Amino acid sequence: MMNKKDIEALLMKEIKSSLAESGYVEEDTPESSSVLSESYVTEAPTFKLSTELLSKKNKKAHQQLLEGYVKTLNEISAKLDTADRDSSNLNHSEFRSLKLDETYNYNAAFLHGLFFQNISDLNSTISMNSLSYMRIERDFGSFDAWQRDFIACSMAARNGWAVMGYSTMLKRYINTFIDLHSLNTMIGFHPIIVMDCWEHSYYRDYLKDRKTYVFAMMKELNWDVIENRIKIADQIHGLLK
Ligand SMILES: [Fe+2]
Repeated sequence: MMNKKDIEALLMKEIKSSLAESGYVEEDTPESSSVLSESYVTEAPTFKLSTELLSKKNKKAHQQLLEGYVKTLNEISAKLDTADRDSSNLNHSEFRSLKLDETYNYNAAFLHGLFFQNISDLNSTISMNSLSYMRIERDFGSFDAWQRDFIACSMAARNGWAVMGYSTMLKRYINTFIDLHSLNTMIGFHPIIVMDCWEHSYYRDYLKDRKTYVFAMMKELNWDVIENRIKIADQIHGLLK
């Protein structure tokens, strides 16, 4: 009688063989090693935010927070290379814990990067001829309607994020919010405008008045950065047609 390991080995062989038939892998692919070489290393850029609508202490602490998330992400990525896949389990396993923490820290790192890049423009201005303005008017009805909806998302997020992004599912731009860094995230969603709504981002300067903080950040949105992101999303839109 076959034991559990034999059954798993047989199944893996059958899967590999069917993948080879479909052309996904070479038929003579060697047995997979127990150590992957897929770890990645990310680096936190240093953001010099010129805005005076956030204090120096706030900006410094927030930069340090970003660096902490990136450091943790790199550590998790390295650990994942050698994590035991065979003992992966839905109730508790090292592999499951690492994958959960990977998503959390990955989102935290990249959402912060996107946020710092799209705020703090002292000459913030949006042209009615820009792609950003035209796409927002097309998909939200008017720029004012988009603003109201985006602010509502900012107020609805718990410790989390408001994000306008391009949905490859709906083939349009949409506002949403994320709780923490990885709860309530939509699939097929490409982030374009990102607002940090965690208390750490405003409490030092605005106490519990999140709305005034969000208004302040929206007054200084960097529409040049956003325009470049919209151009990429528009290319994705073109490929989906
Ligand atoms: Fe933050």
